[in-house]
Amino acid sequence: MRIDILTLFPDMFAPVLDTSILGRAQASGALEVQLFDLRDWTHDFHRTVDDDPYGGGPGMVMLVEPLASAIEDIKTRDPRPAHVIFFTPTGTPLKQARARELSEGSGRLLLVCGHYEGIDERAYAWADEEISIGDYVLTGGELPALVLIDAVTRLLPGVLGHAQSADDESFVEGLLEYPQYTRPSEFRGMMVPEVLLSGHHANIAAWRREQAFKRTFLRRPDLLDEGGQS
Ligand code: ADE
Repeated sequence: MRIDILTLFPDMFAPVLDTSILGRAQASGALEVQLFDLRDWTHDFHRTVDDDPYGGGPGMVMLVEPLASAIEDIKTRDPRPAHVIFFTPTGTPLKQARARELSEGSGRLLLVCGHYEGIDERAYAWADEEISIGDYVLTGGELPALVLIDAVTRLLPGVLGHAQSADDESFVEGLLEYPQYTRPSEFRGMMVPEVLLSGHHANIAAWRREQAFKRTFLRRPDLLDEGGQS
């Protein structure tokens, strides 16, 4: 998958993208990332990307012109059509199911990271989709873009080993994951549940399922209301 990122802060990405599984996904060719600095599409001496809001109010608003030019230009850099995603707290909340669809989609995403108080509303005409990563306000779209890249990349073929990819199944079923344990079987008086040491696979599977339901019921009953959609 190719992911293009349009941002005012390209330096924010390398430390995360070059580490661990995302780094390996790039090395293997499963993931290709291209970073673009929005200021490269400005034409004035100060490389201006924002201005005061019409109607007054606090903060600055990102200009539509550099955003539109950059997106149109970046789209031409690869023959595959780019699915353009803007990050904003007013977007559709990101769910596992959407991450899965994007991992199976056209093979090319263009992630647009907004900053300052907001983006000129007309720029959203260049968005195919607007995504929020949660009901809180961040300083920009860079961290949401990294969250999306991580969630999508681990679902690309060959990026995770078989054992790890099975983990995803329990969340796809719309439940929180069951508790996990590893050595030692006792730590400061805290025991690993007996059933996990029993070697009885059917009992272990039943226990895990029950734990997943209990956890979801207690912590995220909204997931059960969604009828198994995650
Ligand atoms: N930009 C600022 N806050 C955000 C959020 N919660 N999700 C997506 N983009 C954002």
